[in-house]
Amino acid sequence: MARTIEVLPDAVANQIAAGEVVERPASVVKELVENALDARAGRVEIELAGGGKRKVRVADDGLGMSREDALLSLDRHATSKVRGTSDLRALKTFGFRGEALPSIASVSRLTLETQADVAEPGTSIRVEGGRILQVRDMARTRGTTVQVERLFFNAPARAKFLRNTAAETRAVSDAVGTLSLAHPGVAFRLESEGRVLLDLNAASDLPNRVAQLWGDRAAEELIPVHGEGEGFRLVGLVQRPDAARPGFRRTALFVHGRPFREPALIRAGDRAYRTTVAPETRPWILLELRVPAGSVDVNVHPTKAEVRFQNRNAVEALVERSIREALEGEASAATMDQDLPLPHVQVRERSPAGPGDGGGSSETQMALFLRGDGAPGPEPGQEVDGLVPEPAEPPRLWQVHRAYILAEVRDGLLLIDQHAAHERVLFEEIMRSFDTGGSEGQRLLFPLTLRLPAAEYEQAEALSGLLHQTGFEVEGFGGDTVIVHGVPAPHPNFDAERSFREMIEELTHGSELVRSARNQHERVAMSFACKSAIKAGQTLDEREVQELFDRLFATELPYHDVHGRPTVVRLSSRELERKFGR
Ligand SMILES: Nc1ncnc2c1ncn2[C@@H]1O[C@H](COP(=O)(O)OP(=O)(O)OP(=O)(O)O)[C@@H](O)[C@H]1O
Ligand SMILES: [Mg+2]
Repeated sequence: MARTIEVLPDAVANQIAAGEVVERPASVVKELVENALDARAGRVEIELAGGGKRKVRVADDGLGMSREDALLSLDRHATSKVRGTSDLRALKTFGFRGEALPSIASVSRLTLETQADVAEPGTSIRVEGGRILQVRDMARTRGTTVQVERLFFNAPARAKFLRNTAAETRAVSDAVGTLSLAHPGVAFRLESEGRVLLDLNAASDLPNRVAQLWGDRAAEELIPVHGEGEGFRLVGLVQRPDAARPGFRRTALFVHGRPFREPALIRAGDRAYRTTVAPETRPWILLELRVPAGSVDVNVHPTKAEVRFQNRNAVEALVERSIREALEGEASAATMDQDLPLPHVQVRERSPAGPGDGGGSSETQMALFLRGDGAPGPEPGQEVDGLVPEPAEPPRLWQVHRAYILAEVRDGLLLIDQHAAHERVLFEEIMRSFDTGGSEGQRLLFPLTLRLPAAEYEQAEALSGLLHQTGFEVEGFGGDTVIVHGVPAPHPNFDAERSFREMIEELTHGSELVRSARNQHERVAMSFACKSAIKAGQTLDEREVQELFDRLFATELPYHDVHGRPTVVRLSSRELERKFGR
């Protein structure tokens, strides 16, 4: 019988591999820049013609190659980066498959110029459609330059799928921008048809790289994230909630400097923003993960755009928790930006826990503000010598328009929306009370008897346990009637019946707000906060103004209500002076 199985000739195998690795000019650039970074380049320069369809040229000042290595590098599965399977699990380099250069060379005209050792001449190799045409010595400095011309000249079916020059250029620029974020210490320059698209000096850290790429303003809107757990470590930058907008967003994920896509991790990041931004808002998220060797597989796909974590749930949990913690510390950072102190600058002993006490983190936030960093703050009552620039004065407060609280603080003014502020306060207090066993309602001498639509009656019965913890003591009476024996007293003008009805209606039929909640507890707390908070139009006396102000700044996220709308508008002295033309 005739033989029908044969080993493919190299040229064909390379072209098939190219189908997976090389989709478009941006993938060529990505592979070449990754090689440059693997060769420890300090500077990478990229030039394009025709969006890279006509020409891509990537030059680095890295380690370079000897003539022997340079020839080998064009062979399939020739790699200096992996020797055995154990190297595959502890990947320190981008490359490991040893197929990028031969794949690219098989579908283009490629010139490789390189020099490794100043004592030896450099090498130039010309390849066309995978065939080596010429190898010669050349004079050059240490490093490597790869030029790729006429991509897919011998694969017309693939060439057809290339997009127009502008689109291909943008894809290249995105790919370079992403890699530059993972390696802030490396200088990058991208030129297209003589126009400079990116010119990035070596930056000291990620925030500086962000500023180079997208401007100082963007960098200022980002706050640092740190986290650790189960062997994983996380650092990065995420957008301040008040800067986040709907629509366009930037996200980037790296594991050991390697960009990857994982929508589930971005979603975990988004979850951390719950109750701090409106549901359709899409904050920027840039994260770098460090993982134990063997806990991630980057060899899932030839382009290495996807990775597989052994314990993805743990990574998701770490992302969500770390971002949440960063946002909770954000209040202080946001205030710093405006040169406005948090209103209290003295560190006060908190009163024993009670309904008026926000509990939690007021000291920490103040301490953070005072120190301007994440270091642990002073203990309550402890001297904070040298940290407080002037004697601490409680701010002066006024209610204006029966809707806002105006606060005079050291370096300007704060305007606080009384409803939004109270909403935030109630939400956090109820969430805490779910953990600690509920807040006390007031027993009614004459219980309320309420008839509800059937669906709402069922919902009230089903939620009676959680409702009880908000202070509403509800008992089903049958016939769609509930008896309310006890009600909460969040403020003096509280209309318990109305608030209860509105809340049950929202919890039964849903709303944008309660759909943004993560679980039943949050749903109830959000709805309760929204329906029970002090409304605009309600007069507050001096003591009530003071109490609301104190409780707001004792919350973890004082700057947003549960809808993600701002609770505080800040006006710095500087802004005021500008407005008055001083
Ligand atoms: N810019 C460069 N500087 C120094 N050496 C290089 C450079 N580019 C490639 N090489 C050498 O050529 C080899 C082959 O490169 P190639 O990109 O084909 O494979 P790889 O990087 O090892 O793996 P992968 O296919 O996963 O990218 C590399 O292992 C490296 O030794
Ligand atoms: Mg490579």
